[in-house]
Amino acid sequence: MEGLSPLDPSSFSRPDLALVTNIELNLSVSFEKKIFTGFVILKVEKIDGSANEVILDTKDLNIHKIIEVDLDKEVKYILGEQVGEFGQKLTLELPNKNGSDYVLKIEYETSPDASGLQWLSPDQTSGKKHPYLFSQFQAVHARSFLPCQDTPGVKTKYSATISAPPQLTVLMSAIRDHVRELHDGKLFHFVQDVPIPSYLIAIAIGALESRKIGPRSHVWAEKEIIEESAFEFANTEHQLQTAEAICGPYVWGIYDLLVLPPSFPYGGMENPCLTFVTPTLLAGDRSLVNVVAHEIAHSWTGNLVTNKNFEHFWLNEGFTVFIERKIVGRLLTPQDQDFQALEGLAELKDCVNRLGKDNPLTRLVVDLKGLHPDDAFSTVPYEKGQTFLRYLEEAVGGPSVFEPFLRKYFDAYKFKSVDTTDFKTFFIKEFCPCGKENKVKQIDWDLWLYGAGMPPHIPDYDRTVGEVSVRLCSRLSAWNETAEPPPLTAEDAKSMSASQTIYFLQLVLDEPSVWSIIKLKELERLFSLGKCKNSEIKLRWLRICMKARWEEKIPVVLQWLNEVGRMKYVRPLYRDLYKWEAARSKAIDNFKANRRYMMHVSAYTVGKDLHLNE
Ligand code: BES
Ligand code: ZN
Repeated sequence: MEGLSPLDPSSFSRPDLALVTNIELNLSVSFEKKIFTGFVILKVEKIDGSANEVILDTKDLNIHKIIEVDLDKEVKYILGEQVGEFGQKLTLELPNKNGSDYVLKIEYETSPDASGLQWLSPDQTSGKKHPYLFSQFQAVHARSFLPCQDTPGVKTKYSATISAPPQLTVLMSAIRDHVRELHDGKLFHFVQDVPIPSYLIAIAIGALESRKIGPRSHVWAEKEIIEESAFEFANTEHQLQTAEAICGPYVWGIYDLLVLPPSFPYGGMENPCLTFVTPTLLAGDRSLVNVVAHEIAHSWTGNLVTNKNFEHFWLNEGFTVFIERKIVGRLLTPQDQDFQALEGLAELKDCVNRLGKDNPLTRLVVDLKGLHPDDAFSTVPYEKGQTFLRYLEEAVGGPSVFEPFLRKYFDAYKFKSVDTTDFKTFFIKEFCPCGKENKVKQIDWDLWLYGAGMPPHIPDYDRTVGEVSVRLCSRLSAWNETAEPPPLTAEDAKSMSASQTIYFLQLVLDEPSVWSIIKLKELERLFSLGKCKNSEIKLRWLRICMKARWEEKIPVVLQWLNEVGRMKYVRPLYRDLYKWEAARSKAIDNFKANRRYMMHVSAYTVGKDLHLNE
């Protein structure tokens, strides 16, 4: 596509010519106008001596004025054409100056439609009194909040001063430095002293409260859900310590959690110092906290060692799932670790079937030229990535060999960005086959990295924990529901853990046969599925109902679709409705009526799933 960088197909910026080395934000929020106004000061270092410009990414920003601070001189700039969903290239002319360092002050404001920001009116919050704002910048939406080199190949420290109305609290992915009372509001100051990519800048503003849940952790939320949240995530410090034992020291100081409103589009987002999570994790029994283990793991994989661009996204997510499961294995049992891997594998199968086994997006390393990262997003980098790492771990002799190697890799590449070749080279150097025939030599790197479809090798996972789910699925499948009593009792159902129930429902969903509504009604009664608080159970249950063409459940599905924005739930359910002709127009009407309450990325991807943007 026009003007995008040879280093990163999702960015216009050219850090190889002139590099942004520090970011200082100074903004004030207007909830009336749904915008931020103020300025950003970028330190820039000329890398290529012949370069006379610095190139930044922007999206829907209103640039007012740019000056070089040391020279106190206005800087000329050109704002390019809008290129699809990528935004606009901003080219600044570097003035003549001694040395190679520049200080550029850019005065600007954001747009009410900024794709990385979600503005909620008071009635869309739990408290109903105050407005709310939150960001989601990964993969490439930071450019809708500030002009920057919006590529994960560039990492900088940042600081920020944000002014907000007096009743509200501002949080960012940084250390809260101090708060100052002003006569008509509050001024919040933040510092992030570890270099991070732009997609990890994050902000939330709302009527927020906090509870201490550990020596370095608070949970933040609206007061209506703060107690529930403190209960659900009480085990955070334990998870952090387990992660440190695997990965090495935690460098970010604090680890806070922010529980967002239901329209948050992801399960979790690893914003440094402040993980963002969806309220759909509040199951009441801590059964979904593997998502927190996942975001904690990102403190090393992704946040410390970062993918150079999103073609190498598996280096972020595959590694993170791999570590997440190690944390689970240590906190529960190794059997649980393998069980979660089996669940992940079932999801990967679904995904590969949907995309098609020859689809280039089922490769570990993808080609994003002309393709927006939001359109390429799938389970593949997560699950195929973790499968590959598990395979590599076995090949080198197991965790006792592989874990020290991982720590060495994190240490070698901390504060840097890497691509797949960096990792491969580091691995080969460490486990040099030295001419001997061994398992390491047999690794087919090209097949794993560039082959499409399911992983070339599936580890022999321990199946103990999942056995009851598998057995139950086949017993219920064989059950003649019009002639025989059900082959289990509500007690049997209750004795299963939440994850065993999730896996069981996943198997039912993947069954080639479609179960009768009579059978499903029995299932609903036995597992009390009608009033289930666990969103992973709810997702699979409603998908089974849609597969069975159970019309009465359509309104239940539509209502949930209007409550939650988490794409993991919303997209499959909308796709299921779309596939079912009798439900298709209801789905489309429902979406059109509610898209304005959804975050940009959810509305954009669901719109495509429903074939509305074509
Ligand atoms: N970093 C991702 C979320 C993300 C990815 C946002 C790409 C935007 C673009 C986060 O760490 C994540 O993977 N979340 C998962 C958690 C799960 C795998 C445990 C989610 O949201 O479901
Ligand atoms: Zn992740």
